[in-house]
Amino acid sequence: MQKSKKSIDSLTVMTNIVLPNETNSLRNLFGGELLARMDRAASISATRHCERRVVTASVNHVSFDQPIPEGGIVVLEAKVSRAFSTSMEVYVDTWLDDPINQRKTHTNTGIYTFVAVDEFNKPVPIPHLEPESEEEVQRFHAALRRKELSLILSGRMKPTDSIELKKLFLGEE
Ligand SMILES: CC(C)(COP(=O)(O)OP(=O)(O)OC[C@H]1O[C@@H](n2cnc3c(N)ncnc32)[C@H](O)[C@@H]1OP(=O)(O)O)[C@@H](O)C(=O)NCCC(=O)NCCS
Repeated sequence: MQKSKKSIDSLTVMTNIVLPNETNSLRNLFGGELLARMDRAASISATRHCERRVVTASVNHVSFDQPIPEGGIVVLEAKVSRAFSTSMEVYVDTWLDDPINQRKTHTNTGIYTFVAVDEFNKPVPIPHLEPESEEEVQRFHAALRRKELSLILSGRMKPTDSIELKKLFLGEE
């Protein structure tokens, strides 16, 4: 296993069309259907990064910014944005692709945490991630804040034990 990897190594692109049975009463893609697709793309991306079996530990953030209509072409792009010891953050960007009018609209963002596990479902160490582009560097740095927030909200960390969030909210070092 490599000691460190780039985001591009875990890039996972899933392209699909929205069928009628995947829509809500407004004939737009049903939110739960999109969440399932994002989770699939993110888990493949996490597996590519760590070359291990992975489990979803948390969904840190999902935004539904634009509706995706029936018949729309949906493109999901998932990449690992930061690797910690055994867990990693995966960013999923969703686009509505309109090849007829040559338009690509960003519709959603999902941010997931996956944990690499062995055959006994015990967490195992994973390669580091080296961000390259400006966007990858920005996401890499913000990932620690999101991890701490997720751990606090799930009762796994005391707010006073956080590093980044204390700095952000209390100005404490
Ligand atoms: C996720 C899971 C493997 C964590 O196991 P655990 O024994 O609690 O392990 P740890 O406490 O050592 O946590 C492992 C890593 O996950 C991270 N983690 C755990 N819960 C987290 C959460 N809610 N948010 C962010 N990170 C989390 C920990 O910070 C740690 O990260 P690090 O090693 O990179 O610092 C375990 O809870 C599990 O198997 N959950 C079920 C997963 C599943 O079935 N998912 C599918 C849902 S349908």
